Amino acid sequence: MRIEHADVVVVGGGAAGLSAALAAVETFAAAGRDDAVVALVSKVYPMRSHTVAAEGGAAGVVPGGADSAEAHVADTLRGGAGLSHDDAVRFVVDRAPAELARLERLGMPWSRTDDGRPAVRRFGGMTHPRTWFAADKTGFHLLHTLFQTSLREPAIRRYDEHVVLDLLVVDGACRGVVGYDQHHGETVTVLAPAVVLATGGYARAWGTSTNASIVTGDGLSMVLRAGLPLRDLEMVQVHPTCLPGSGILITEAARGEGGVLLDAAGERYLADYGLGPVTPVGAPEPRRMELGPRDQLSQAFWHADRAGRTIPTRDGGVVHLDLRHLGKAAIDERLPLVAGLARRYAGVDPVTTPIPVRPAAHYTMGGIVTTPQGRVLDARGAEVPGLFAAGECASTGLHGANRLGSNSLVETLVTGRAAGELAAAPSAGAFPDRAALDPARAAADRWLAMRGRGTEPPAAIRRELGAVLDAEVGIFRDATGLARAQATLDELNARYQEVRVADTAAVLNTDWAQAIELGAMLDLARGAVAAAIGRTESRGAHQRLDHPQTDDVARHSLAARGDDGAITITWQEPEP
Ligand code: FUM
Repeated sequence: MRIEHADVVVVGGGAAGLSAALAAVETFAAAGRDDAVVALVSKVYPMRSHTVAAEGGAAGVVPGGADSAEAHVADTLRGGAGLSHDDAVRFVVDRAPAELARLERLGMPWSRTDDGRPAVRRFGGMTHPRTWFAADKTGFHLLHTLFQTSLREPAIRRYDEHVVLDLLVVDGACRGVVGYDQHHGETVTVLAPAVVLATGGYARAWGTSTNASIVTGDGLSMVLRAGLPLRDLEMVQVHPTCLPGSGILITEAARGEGGVLLDAAGERYLADYGLGPVTPVGAPEPRRMELGPRDQLSQAFWHADRAGRTIPTRDGGVVHLDLRHLGKAAIDERLPLVAGLARRYAGVDPVTTPIPVRPAAHYTMGGIVTTPQGRVLDARGAEVPGLFAAGECASTGLHGANRLGSNSLVETLVTGRAAGELAAAPSAGAFPDRAALDPARAAADRWLAMRGRGTEPPAAIRRELGAVLDAEVGIFRDATGLARAQATLDELNARYQEVRVADTAAVLNTDWAQAIELGAMLDLARGAVAAAIGRTESRGAHQRLDHPQTDDVARHSLAARGDDGAITITWQEPEP
């Protein structure tokens, strides 16, 4: 086992991870720590992180206009349906404009108005246009900007295509990570006084998902195995407009620019499901019709589908997203990626033909319990020394029960930075001694023992996992379906204990890496279902057909994993 040392380890090379790494470097430099090393560990080359797939934009109030921080806070709290925390929302909203401007100084090509100001577009659930964008390739440009900036920092030591296997938690404090170098075929332990997890969510567990195949909840699963809780796992957002079959995202920006949704009869059906009154075609208004919150649009699709108002396809019913009235010039300028995706993956040119769309799992609001700044908390609410989290893997209290579109990209920047600064502060944690190496060796041996054994085909478990989550843990849920999901997941989890890893190679063993990811997804799916069963109310992204009411008191679910692998749920009352 290779043993290395760093001052901070950041796990994840997406926007939150890169923001954290850059902030840690700046913090060390300001303290005169020119020798500091920030280890950036990623299971993929950073430019392949899922941030690259973000399309629509990042929310932040443009100073000097009609919009305000108060309005951004109010919209976010309303979207969060009682589970957002005021301090976490305020923390991100207040820092968003400066963070977006900082990114521009690093090279981010934000789209602009004719008079040179940052252009902002409308997004669902927002009372004002406040989504900064770079056409519809915001994530690509944002990731590129952060990555190219990181290349200028010699203090950042990259560990690309390294699979992180476990956190090293000794006496309640995080002391580094144990991972595996896929290129050299060896385990690597990086000891450090502080670790920032920026590993993304787990929405790829669903069969139909906008997420890349890498979004498998690895960091969250490590936290569970370390005996720490995960919050609100049942809050899984379903995006209303995705391509059938592939789940490829067709950004909400298409509706922000004026696109409309039509049922099989060519009618704008949303007003029939509480999203009216109808707005003029091509003149979207905040929070109405196509610009309603995305959970409500997905629910409207569900009702329309059951009412026979969708168009049947082999991938399920679809509705049409009609952009034709926008014209070719606007589509080419503002939505070039959407146009390309529609042509390539749906076989339609949106300039002349509506795009078939249906909902897909998109974002997981729940995650690692943290303060607004990304300090990880244990089940008693105490800080875990040396452990931080940022981005989709963290539950800071920003998104609550339903995230508003474009609040997450800005969150990666703001909380990524905050977590990186804290991790680099002298108080972050004690420098680990070699006592941390015994648990590292034990963890590595446990994972390596999976190779060349097992009988259960992982692809079958993976397929059945996606199918049961699609069927029973989607837009609407009920006790019967959730019980079916729980029984299926228990059975899949039992089979997973004998999962077959045929490849015994030391180098680039993707069989093994994917089996590890499958275990993480099973843990999170079991947690999501257990929490969904226990939440006998409807709130935000969690809608129960058998419990349509919203409880007076908004409680958080906390999932924990026992040594025997069982997941238990407790409920946390809000702070007085
Ligand atoms: O539709 C979208 O572009 C999604 C954005 C988001 O999830 O923030």
